[in-house]
Amino acid sequence: MKERPLVSQEEILKQREYMRLVREIDRRPQSYHIVSMGCQMNARDSETIAGMLEEMGMERQPVREQADLILYNTCCVRENAENKALGNVIWLKELKRDKSELMICVGGCMTQEKGMAATMKKRYPFIDLIYGTHNLYRLPEYIYRFLQGREPVVEVLDTDGEVVEGLPEKRESVHTSFVNIMYGCNNFCSYCIVPYVRGRERSRDPEDIEREVAQLLEKGAQEIVLLGQNVNSYRGGGAEFANLLRRLDRLGVPRIRFMTSHPKDLSDELIAAYGDLEHLMPSLHLPVQAGNDEILRQMNRRYNRARYLDLVRRLRAVRPEIGLTSDIIVGFPGETEAQFEDTMSLVREVRFDAAYTFIYSPRKGTKAAEMPDPVTAEEKSARIQRLIDLQQAIAYEALCAQVGRKEIVLVDSVSTRDAGSVGGKTPRGHMVNFPGSAELIGKFVEVEITSAGKNTLRGKLV
Ligand code: 5AD
Ligand code: SF4
Repeated sequence: MKERPLVSQEEILKQREYMRLVREIDRRPQSYHIVSMGCQMNARDSETIAGMLEEMGMERQPVREQADLILYNTCCVRENAENKALGNVIWLKELKRDKSELMICVGGCMTQEKGMAATMKKRYPFIDLIYGTHNLYRLPEYIYRFLQGREPVVEVLDTDGEVVEGLPEKRESVHTSFVNIMYGCNNFCSYCIVPYVRGRERSRDPEDIEREVAQLLEKGAQEIVLLGQNVNSYRGGGAEFANLLRRLDRLGVPRIRFMTSHPKDLSDELIAAYGDLEHLMPSLHLPVQAGNDEILRQMNRRYNRARYLDLVRRLRAVRPEIGLTSDIIVGFPGETEAQFEDTMSLVREVRFDAAYTFIYSPRKGTKAAEMPDPVTAEEKSARIQRLIDLQQAIAYEALCAQVGRKEIVLVDSVSTRDAGSVGGKTPRGHMVNFPGSAELIGKFVEVEITSAGKNTLRGKLV
């Protein structure tokens, strides 16, 4: 990984000055609404955007139609994510007809795609600001520029990406806090657009991460979720990911989780960390994508089925109760029935607690988009349904095996389905609902698991 390219603090101060200047403009938006699409990395970016908008004097408006500024933080990992974003944007045109002062901003992974910003500018001239993934920190400058001239601002940078420190933030939750540790991806899995829109791998300094985590602990954080496209290739300060986990474990973070991992980079040190770090939760999201060696090779995943299964075996040897989750793609170009069966048998062998399953979606500019694909859409739908049915049966059995156990649960929400109930996660990551009041949110409680539902557990306070 390349030396960490850091955006200078002078630049950040400049942006802070723009935040102040926007605040002083009379006819500026007074309220904002962010629509965050896609993954946790985007959700975390949205927290930074919210922080900047609040510094500019705007207040969060939960009802989208009532906000003075609407910002779409888009995703492009699959075509349906993109269609959703575009559908939303077209709808905004109507809204703007009735409310001419409405400011519309669109940024994130979709606008970073090659040629997309220019196309959008032409097709949707009512969008006031289009920016990409690499210049999010310049939002204050762009908003200022727009408010001065009322001309659309369109700027997407073509760079490998940088690391930004010192921007404001407005977090969605304190008890569970998401913390970026690295950005970008160098893997170029043949189906994936992420490396094209999120740039090259770059890590934050461990000192910066430690400082952020210490501050979050002071504010009451109980669980830290470390984020990166491929956290296993974290190299901040030259040290590997397991080292960072050790440092954070020593800081006394009650619960540590992270996502996402790449099986090819999962190190012996990380497996060892699962054996001896007190605060590292026994759960791991380890996307396998496919169970067939030829498909894995065509996906450019650089591991095979045997290596994946060996990782699972070794993780379970050091931490028998570890809960594994995964991402799986069905219908990669040319996937045969027998190759798909290899994915089914891997799922049977590993027994994931949960798996996110996707039908392959061709993404322009990626290698796989050029591959011939004779498999019909109907066949792909039938395959994914078989996979979902299998996975659900396995997940349900894992939930049933928890009944009768006593677990420490970090309460994170009020149940929307059962009045008088709250929900939270076990160390392994299972959701449990149980009778309790909202005051329990953010606290650890002991819960006896009394029954299993399709996706969640039920329990009672001990
Ligand atoms: N089609 C379908 N699924 C995809 N993913 C990434 N790219 C594609 C694509 N082109 C899935 C992978 C990844 C998850 C975040 O999204 O499974 O792990
Ligand atoms: Fe995409 Fe592969 Fe990078 Fe994950 S590791 S973001 S699937 S290219």
